[in-house]
Amino acid sequence: MRFYEDLQNTSVGRLPTRSYYIPEGKAKYTLLNGEFSFGYYPDGDRVDVCAAPCNDRVAVPSTWQNTGYEQPNYANVDYPYPVDPPYVPMENPVGIYTREIEVCGIGRTYLVLEGVSSEAEVYLDGQFVGRTQGSHLQAEFDLTPFAAKGTHTLRIAVRKWCVGSYLEDQDFFRCNGIFRDLYLLERPEGHIVDVDIRTHISGKVTVTTAPATVLTLSDGTTLLATAITDERGVALLQVEKPVLWNPEKPYLYTLCLEKAGEKITQKIGFREITVNAQKAICVNGVPVKLKGVNHHDTSPTGGWVMTDAELRRDLELMKELNMNIVRTSHYPPTPKFLEWCDELGLYVVLETDIETHGFCHRHGKALFKRGYDVENPDWICNRPAWEKEYVERMERAWERDKNHISILMWSTGNESGHGENHQAMIRYLRSKEDGRLIHAEDASRAHQQRWKREVEKAEEQYRIAKALQEKEDQAAEKLAAAKAGFEKAKAYEHKVDVHSRMYLSLDGVRTYCEQVAELPLFLCEYAHAMGNGPGGMWDYMDLLYRYPNFAGGCIWEWADHAVWRDGAYRYGGDFPGELTHDSNFCVDGMVFPDRSFKAGTLDIKEAYAPFRVYYKEGKLEIRNLFDFTSFAECEISYCLEVDGKQVAAGQLPLTTPAHQTSVVDLPVALPECRYGALLKVTLKQRGALLGTACCELANPVATVATGEPLTLSCEQGYVYAKGSDFCYRLSPKTGMFDSICLQGEEKLAEPMQLTAFRAPIDNERKERWMWEKSGADRGAENLNRQFTHLYDLTVEGNVVTAQISLAGVSRAPYFRGTLQYTFFADGRVQVTLTGDIKKECVWLQRFGFEMSLLGEDLPFDYYGRGPWENYVDLYHHAPLGRYESTPAREYVPYVRPQEHGNHTGVRELNVAGLTFLGAPAFECNLSRYSTAALTAAEHTDELVADGNTHLRLDYKNSGIGSASCGPALEEQYRLQEKHIEFSFTLALQK
Ligand code: GAL
Repeated sequence: MRFYEDLQNTSVGRLPTRSYYIPEGKAKYTLLNGEFSFGYYPDGDRVDVCAAPCNDRVAVPSTWQNTGYEQPNYANVDYPYPVDPPYVPMENPVGIYTREIEVCGIGRTYLVLEGVSSEAEVYLDGQFVGRTQGSHLQAEFDLTPFAAKGTHTLRIAVRKWCVGSYLEDQDFFRCNGIFRDLYLLERPEGHIVDVDIRTHISGKVTVTTAPATVLTLSDGTTLLATAITDERGVALLQVEKPVLWNPEKPYLYTLCLEKAGEKITQKIGFREITVNAQKAICVNGVPVKLKGVNHHDTSPTGGWVMTDAELRRDLELMKELNMNIVRTSHYPPTPKFLEWCDELGLYVVLETDIETHGFCHRHGKALFKRGYDVENPDWICNRPAWEKEYVERMERAWERDKNHISILMWSTGNESGHGENHQAMIRYLRSKEDGRLIHAEDASRAHQQRWKREVEKAEEQYRIAKALQEKEDQAAEKLAAAKAGFEKAKAYEHKVDVHSRMYLSLDGVRTYCEQVAELPLFLCEYAHAMGNGPGGMWDYMDLLYRYPNFAGGCIWEWADHAVWRDGAYRYGGDFPGELTHDSNFCVDGMVFPDRSFKAGTLDIKEAYAPFRVYYKEGKLEIRNLFDFTSFAECEISYCLEVDGKQVAAGQLPLTTPAHQTSVVDLPVALPECRYGALLKVTLKQRGALLGTACCELANPVATVATGEPLTLSCEQGYVYAKGSDFCYRLSPKTGMFDSICLQGEEKLAEPMQLTAFRAPIDNERKERWMWEKSGADRGAENLNRQFTHLYDLTVEGNVVTAQISLAGVSRAPYFRGTLQYTFFADGRVQVTLTGDIKKECVWLQRFGFEMSLLGEDLPFDYYGRGPWENYVDLYHHAPLGRYESTPAREYVPYVRPQEHGNHTGVRELNVAGLTFLGAPAFECNLSRYSTAALTAAEHTDELVADGNTHLRLDYKNSGIGSASCGPALEEQYRLQEKHIEFSFTLALQK
């Protein structure tokens, strides 16, 4: 065994973790970030790390994978090496960092490493100082015995893998190196070590630190209390009527600690966390709703390295998107992140650095289906030898971060099964009695679910055995054991404070909230935001506000993980040498890698907005969904738009308290409209827009074309509809337009078709086999290889009727129907489709007309939902209105190209001299790319525009959902009706 595989010696010389602070006064802080000499050795065991040359130069913090020493490697569940703990691969690279440091000799000298992956050995002037593991956990070493005043050579050897790597199997690009700040602290003798600050909403502050520490507490300007710690290091301070902290009003006080000439400043707050009788999480006695996201450190150029500015921006954007909680998945963040959460107002689920998901895959497919077979002793969460490491990782997180008011829950890690070692972590957390909630998703899921299955299985065996009158004893024994296991699992769960689940369906939420309801329900992950999406956010919000015991959740996840290389974002599988990878599953953020927004981002903002507006019979009902803020502190205004034009606007001076609803008379007269009348209500706070709620006030008038009939002609099977300056031609092969000529100019690049396929979105990755013919035939409808059959084409007066069917290759037709065209002398044509989808057919991604118009980037305008793309379950960010756009502007650069750019609720579309009028509304999509091109491309730089404008006029599209990891698309958002009636009018602009 190599020393870094020794579980019982994962650190040497590392100081016990203390609370985080940077001392001032006589203390000296020297950030060592910057250029280091560096040497990378693929076979680290064969290198004398003290003597090996370091002839390269690298910037620190950085990772080997983003500085060219290794290629990026993205792995999700699978370990990127065999599962054989504690052993890691025989060839284990080492990276050696060295530079000179200056020591002033103030007193004591410390080296602090905020993040090193996966193992670091520290040397000063060739002398061994110590070593550490736990990549995202802080490590501090006392250099004093090695470092007198003067210049010294610091050398840090970093190993790629160590035994601790088994606990760091998170779903991300695997990175190595010194990836967070490292610094020196020079401090006077007798300085403070740890600071433990407990506050109570009564205003009481208990500080435990070094004896004889002078404490002053202020609100930034006024001194409120002073004290000196006693011989035990304890002091009490009192603030009269403290202003409590909450994320809407993150009020902080300043506590200064002075000792030995050093000054330590800590921002503190007052808040209380409880769970009420209805199982709602309460903050300061108020039941709160948690609306948040999971955050990983990820940068398209730096990998795990994020600058302070980038991290702060992430948090500011979260606030801008109406979030109030962030889960630090799946490891503690850099300490500054928490300071900003305190300051900006975000609750935190502070998760420690543990994930062992890959144990589920250790026997390949054989065990995969069973997932967390935690009863098997292979699982390290149950092996006593690992307990110390588990608990230590919790302890290091708790000790460093305990003083942050923003931390609402401590989390024991992610996807690791739930075993005795987790129990020990929970016992540790309980012993701290710090008033935070304890979160362990695995306790809620892995055990309860698994044991439930075991009980069901045992019951079945018992019934069979009884029926056969044999082995009843044995069967009864098994049943009893399974039941005991289930009870144990339930008991485990009760040691945590929230029932935490990931990707629960709406039904799952309802069932728990209505039937089980033993703990507050928290979705530590939901709304998987991969690619186009997530859809369906609004439905979760409806449940959030319906059930008191539904506390809310965190979207998976904040930003796409990708590597920017050669002009495009790259993901798993794009790099040489990846022995296992999970393709683009890392590209699942609600913002792009550069943090730009997509439609899903904006829809989340609306879903999380702290208000709702409903229109009912002349009245507006306006709900305040803040937990702590009155509408008196906000600005609410409205505007009325009729057919896309603003006709009235004003203010709604409401003072509705948090959690209350106001009902006001509709501030405008009910208008008449052609396409739509929309009341937009906007909520602002200190000038920042929090949300726009839309109420549709009037139903539009249906457009049915009438007029002077046009005389039609037939030639060689083609039907011609000609006027003085236009000519339509219907194909004898499909019964659809294969030419539309206006003022002598041909509009169609390719004939019109009726289709049901769209470039699969990531949320269809598990279902695309139902629609798409691919290499391995899995019995799809083969809608991407479709035939149209025309049975009959008749002309009667100005009406053409076509009997058609549509079928995928090798399949019976999925659609049979009638297409009818009624032509008018002024060039208008009413197109009506009626027909049936075969009963055996799967639900469809979409259904409608496609045509390719001559001209690459034809400008267009429309009345419908926009300007952002929208779908039936993803549209609250896209109000009805009149918009102008171009196909180029419609393009959404999803990292893996896919369907995008849809608009719902379209009543009128003008493009290339053609006007399409919906009656009722249709959906439209205009793109520079064909469906085939979007389907084929794996990266944005592979997308080829063919010079035409691809127009879709759809009856409907299925929704977006979040099934890439979450539950299947809700039935209500699937296009699954069997009878279709679809109609629109095409008019010519002259
Ligand atoms: C969860 C996991 C996350 C991520 C997600 C899929 O199961 O906790 O880390 O892997 O699935 O994107």
